[in-house]
Amino acid sequence: MKSTSKPLSKNPHLIQWVKKMAALCQPASIHWIDGSQKEYDALCAAMVKGGTFIKLNQKKWPGCYLARSDASDVARVEDRTFICSHSKEAAGPTNNWVNPYEMKKTLRGLFSGCMQGRTMYVLPFSMGPLDSPMAQIGVQLTDSPYAVVNMRIMARIGKPVFELIDKDKKRVVPCVHSVGAPLKKGQKDVAWPCNKEKYIVHFPETREIWSYGSGYGGNALLGKKCFALRIASAMARDEGWMAEHMLILGVENPQGQKTYVAAAFPSACGKTNFAMMIPPPAFAKKGWKVWTVGDDIAWIKPDANGRLRAINPEAGFFGVAPGTGDHTNPNAMKSLAKNTIFTNVALTDDGGVWWEGMTDTPPAHAIDWQGHDWTPALGKEKGAKAAHPNARFTAPAKQCPTMDSEWENPEGVPIHAIVFGGRRATTMPLVYQAFNWSSGVYVGATMGSEMTAAAAGTIGKVRRDPMAMLPFCGYDMGEYFAHWLRVGEKLESPPRMFLVNWFRKGSDGRFLWPGYTENMRVLQWVVDRVHGRVPAGTTVAGLVPRLGDLNLSGLAIDPLQVRAALEVDEAEWVDEVKLQGEHFAKLAATMPPELVRQREALRARLSNRSIEAPDMRVPAVP
Ligand code: GTP
Ligand code: SPV
Ligand code: MN
Repeated sequence: MKSTSKPLSKNPHLIQWVKKMAALCQPASIHWIDGSQKEYDALCAAMVKGGTFIKLNQKKWPGCYLARSDASDVARVEDRTFICSHSKEAAGPTNNWVNPYEMKKTLRGLFSGCMQGRTMYVLPFSMGPLDSPMAQIGVQLTDSPYAVVNMRIMARIGKPVFELIDKDKKRVVPCVHSVGAPLKKGQKDVAWPCNKEKYIVHFPETREIWSYGSGYGGNALLGKKCFALRIASAMARDEGWMAEHMLILGVENPQGQKTYVAAAFPSACGKTNFAMMIPPPAFAKKGWKVWTVGDDIAWIKPDANGRLRAINPEAGFFGVAPGTGDHTNPNAMKSLAKNTIFTNVALTDDGGVWWEGMTDTPPAHAIDWQGHDWTPALGKEKGAKAAHPNARFTAPAKQCPTMDSEWENPEGVPIHAIVFGGRRATTMPLVYQAFNWSSGVYVGATMGSEMTAAAAGTIGKVRRDPMAMLPFCGYDMGEYFAHWLRVGEKLESPPRMFLVNWFRKGSDGRFLWPGYTENMRVLQWVVDRVHGRVPAGTTVAGLVPRLGDLNLSGLAIDPLQVRAALEVDEAEWVDEVKLQGEHFAKLAATMPPELVRQREALRARLSNRSIEAPDMRVPAVP
């Protein structure tokens, strides 16, 4: 080995593990990450020199860089994501499973010599504020400086974390990451090294993560989906808390009362937008405010008073760029105005960035995400995208103007409402409330959504994505539902549960609801329901706003369109409940009877039957 920077930890287990992994991966050098600005700047400068980063016009975009990934490495790879628990049953039918011993053998082969010619960074990170009892610690070994600088924005990293490790108070989750592109002597590096073969591997029992072949987002920033969702969900089940794919926001009403809401929407379905929402003028004038706690992940735990409290384990936003603009999400635009890393957006002629939806008028010319010339005409005529649909910005949370005063509270914030939602062109109304916790768990468990560009797959197809956790649950889905039901039983004051759908379409194929800032109207109803300030109408699906209960002041919209958005069409629900049954049949082995009963109750409501003798069997595929 050419060089090793001074180890920044005295923990013998950590030092031993770094040695062992270095012997396997054979990096040219080892760099212990202190997390300083100086170190960050040096890593960025080296990446500019090597061609991974383009430094943007610093007058317009201070502290900002652009990276273009390899065209084959643009999103999470769910078919290459593995949950290697001791048994296939423990991983459940929705996860890819390989025997852990076999997988370890495969990984040892792949990682052998995989870092040759590169530096191995030793990157300690905390998910959650350092002083939070709910925080968890990991160390990521990686040969990707891109991963290191992104992690510095997304998590708390560096020296203070080594200090915590040296105090030996908390268990460390070991995470190993390689882009899988060793360099031979004298071989010139490429701008975005990666490998065609990809393995994103989790060992839930031993709490280990190994990731190979990708440099992108959720595949490479191991604190995020791999740790804070897949491994953390398994920890949470064992320890009585919850790790969820949820944003957290606080709604302040004109009286100054704050109500916290957590919401689970699948990838690229509006969490960041909802978390940073600015109320429309009619609401803002009266004093309504929305505060941001987190935009992607919530760690939730019952407190001593039987109430759920949640922290945002992250410190930054890894947000979808396309569709983000001053009209849709001005808070995101302010968050990403400086000190931000852009990936796969377009480069403008003045050294700035652009993506579809950022401004109404596109630049006359730009370099697209693959480095080719792009013009609006190419976009119009050939549908050529300037930015990749899953292009992302990595921005520090503290730059968001609406960060809540409590966002780093080590004890978290109290959760009053849980909202589920997805992209559904039909069936699902703009909003409804579940009758109680169990029926709310049913709503989450049966959630469906049209697929997006956030993962490789068929875009637009409806798939069942329970609690938006299908790609992120580190164990069996039926067990996961049972855990939700168990947590609910322990609560003195469980949050109220809702479903929302911003994406329902009319017969003309256009969204029925204007979305974005106007979602405040739905949020007010949610908050009013939480505090029992407004009665609701009853439908087969759940409780809905009565006509006139949704505050539409200042919104120019045809009331018939709102009515269509809110409608619970029983004919559509007859089909829906069948599809929900097919979904449940796939999870039959461990499906909690309570959820089967919930489905029976829904079927009974639809056919006006009584449910005195519900059929407790898991239904066969109709
Ligand atoms: P991940 O980071 O992948 O977990 O995604 P996310 O859930 O945070 O999604 P995000 O808020 O970034 O939104 C993704 C896309 O949905 C963007 O293109 C938005 O413009 C669009 N979107 C968000 N909110 C709304 C809405 O209320 N209505 C409509 N029609 N589109 C929306
Ligand atoms: C998601 O896909 O839900 C994301 C982006 O938040 S990634 O970090 O790439 O998983
Ligand atoms: Mn996400």
